[in-house]
Amino acid sequence: MTSRMHEHDPQLTSLVFDYLQRRLAMDPVPLDRPGDAAEIQAALSGLITPGGRGAPAALSVYSETIAKSVLSADHPKFWAFIPAAPTKASLLFDMVVSCASIQGISWLEAAGAVAAENQVLRWIADSAGLPEGAGGTFVSGGSAANLSALVVARDTARRKRAPGAKLRIAVSDQAHSSIRNTANIIGVELFVVPTQDHVLTAAALRLAIDADPTGAAEAFAVVGTCGTTNAGIIDDLSGIAEVARERDWWFHVDGAYGGAGLLAPSVRGLYAGIEHADSFIVDPHKWLFAPFDCAALIYRQPALARAVHTQDASYLDAIHDSEEWNPTDYAYHLTRRARGLPLWFSLVVHGTDAYTEAVESSLTLARETAKLIAATPGLKLLRQPTLSVVLWQRDGWSAVDYNEWSHRILADQVAFVTPTQWAGQTVGRFAFLHPKTTIADVREVLATLQS
Ligand SMILES: Cc1ncc(COP(=O)(O)O)c(C=O)c1O
Repeated sequence: MTSRMHEHDPQLTSLVFDYLQRRLAMDPVPLDRPGDAAEIQAALSGLITPGGRGAPAALSVYSETIAKSVLSADHPKFWAFIPAAPTKASLLFDMVVSCASIQGISWLEAAGAVAAENQVLRWIADSAGLPEGAGGTFVSGGSAANLSALVVARDTARRKRAPGAKLRIAVSDQAHSSIRNTANIIGVELFVVPTQDHVLTAAALRLAIDADPTGAAEAFAVVGTCGTTNAGIIDDLSGIAEVARERDWWFHVDGAYGGAGLLAPSVRGLYAGIEHADSFIVDPHKWLFAPFDCAALIYRQPALARAVHTQDASYLDAIHDSEEWNPTDYAYHLTRRARGLPLWFSLVVHGTDAYTEAVESSLTLARETAKLIAATPGLKLLRQPTLSVVLWQRDGWSAVDYNEWSHRILADQVAFVTPTQWAGQTVGRFAFLHPKTTIADVREVLATLQS
């Protein structure tokens, strides 16, 4: 039995490969719907047995029940939260990475993979204008990347502050929820800076510092966002960098969603100041068209991260024998999938221009959508989109109406759109990033608002 599990089984292989080929050929993939808990439980019940049920039974439950009750985040009309749109090349290479059993901890174990991942990190660092020595690693997501970076910021500050000194992270009221979680986990508090028009600026920071000099003195880092999850707004990164420099704060830039906009000439100017970041994150599994789960984490001075994250265990001494790059030393992780490789493969296959074009296409779509909404009676555009998120309001609608509409158009398999809050009200929100989403799709969804 044991050996059978590790023998090549051509039938099992073709069964799974056939399924994969069918899925990869779908255009678009089905949107699918939230499953019914009782039906899912019934289909799963009794499947794990001492003797095994065989591949056809397992795959049939997957394709008939599990897959159908999983919303496809890469559907061109999945506009809720932050969607995904992995390239076919990156999806295929993700399977290669799985088959290769790459342990991505260290240079010793995975030199080629580490070098290729670092090539991608270098490309990202160059697009942000970070210096030659910048580097880091890929982690599972923006939350893990924010946590790993801000731990380095905290420990770097601790070395400069009095023992036991209270520490805070300066953030805008628009920063991502993972920053607050990070603060809780690492035992520091937030120095929350109220924003005007939802943008963190140097002026807003200075006002908050003047209003609470004691709180400001406890701050050791400031987080700038490019762009915010709710509205795609880019903070005044150069103004924040200036204040950070004056106060010797660590400057962290959270570009989990919007960092990809660095590739787009039409908005690149809005990121001015990012080159001063001490740490920068961007999620390729969002707008850089890589599969889940992949976040790039880059430090201006990687040695500071190494000092904090390197795990000390005698059984690991072998990986630290040389001066080569060990991805484990740059984040809170040890074992890691070489999750940067699918992006590396796709970048090499398609070239960087294709990425620029794909990001620009969502920006163009957001601008066209904004125009369409502004011109539609009964709808109100809430602000000009900076990136690819569009916020709107329908006359006379309450939270209940938005929620009912959201459920209805998902049940009808038209689109997946969820409302959000803006200025204390429930509003509509479209988050675009799939290059195959069209203005005709937007018209179709807007038409459902009239009924
Ligand atoms: C600005 C920002 N930061 C952090 C995150 C968290 O990223 P993840 O979901 O990959 O943990 C998100 C997710 O949408 C985000 O938009």
